[in-house]
Amino acid sequence: MRAIEFAEYGGSDVLRPLDVDLPDPGPGQVRVAVRVAGVNPFDWKLRSGAMVGVVELSLPHRPGLELAGVVDAVGAGAGFAVGDEVFGWALTGSYAEFALASVVAAKPPALTWHDAAALPSAGEAALRGLRLLDVAEGDVLLVHGAAGAVGGSATQLAVARGATVIGTGADRSADTIRSYGGTPVRYGDGLVDRVRAVSPRVDAVLDAAGKGALPDSVELRGGVDRIVTLADPAAFELGITFSGGEPGDQNAGVLAELAELTVTGRLVVRHARSYPLAEAARAQDDSATGHSGGKITLDVRG
Ligand SMILES: NC(=O)c1ccc[n+]([C@@H]2O[C@H](COP(=O)([O-])OP(=O)(O)OC[C@H]3O[C@@H](n4cnc5c(N)ncnc54)[C@H](OP(=O)(O)O)[C@@H]3O)[C@@H](O)[C@H]2O)c1
Repeated sequence: MRAIEFAEYGGSDVLRPLDVDLPDPGPGQVRVAVRVAGVNPFDWKLRSGAMVGVVELSLPHRPGLELAGVVDAVGAGAGFAVGDEVFGWALTGSYAEFALASVVAAKPPALTWHDAAALPSAGEAALRGLRLLDVAEGDVLLVHGAAGAVGGSATQLAVARGATVIGTGADRSADTIRSYGGTPVRYGDGLVDRVRAVSPRVDAVLDAAGKGALPDSVELRGGVDRIVTLADPAAFELGITFSGGEPGDQNAGVLAELAELTVTGRLVVRHARSYPLAEAARAQDDSATGHSGGKITLDVRG
């Protein structure tokens, strides 16, 4: 089968298309014929070497956290049958024609392949962030990176709970943030004043950008309480909660919840671009701009 791997850290040119052996599913695992793979900022951060010392990796490595596709082989007790349409997290990288997985859920027929591949990582992180912040009706929530895959999901889900969301983004992202139900505010110098002009009160902050907005967040909150970042390691020095997820956070129940929210129109995935598997390097470069304007995916099968 064809797969994308890298054998050394570096720029996207270290990504190589290869012919590799088909993986065999172990107990509790399925092998998925991947239709669409999600591309995440984590993928290029890992490839660049920026996470050496944080994430243990043996090289060569096959990227790809999430997938949507058709079950092609089943390990003992996996609970799925050959031919089932599923989506979820990949055990072996999803930048490949086939990948092993153990945490997947049935893909409802009404959920598109691209939405299914886009939901797991960003959707779970958004739900987790709101849960850690205990966002409820009446709260004023500030979301950094509200036009992104994670921030956009968090904005929609918080608005659906009855929160008021102020979302940071570039000027060109303002309409997107509005479409999610948030009030857009441009990020960068002067952010505190722009947020206060919208609301003198900020009850909670979710940082889904990781671009240095934590000091402003502390100023707006008057302390570190009810601030969560998913992306800024400065949190550790500032005494702010950094959430990378706990074992068990990525579970089939979350996938089913995200699918239900999406097919009922309560969560809309905005897709930026999709690339063929062979163009994974371009897809990662697109993601690495930090301004892709939506979710990036790989079309593994047409
Ligand atoms: N901890 C976890 O469990 C977890 C899970 C998933 C993702 N993440 C992390 O969360 C971050 C977002 O992921 P994603 O998939 O949502 O990425 P994405 O779709 O590429 O979104 C990135 C967002 O960052 C915004 N942004 C760019 N520069 C900014 C700046 N200077 N100030 C404020 N915002 C800025 C962008 O806004 P504009 O487009 O408007 O410029 C965009 O909304 C990544 O760092 C990713 O690694 C963490």
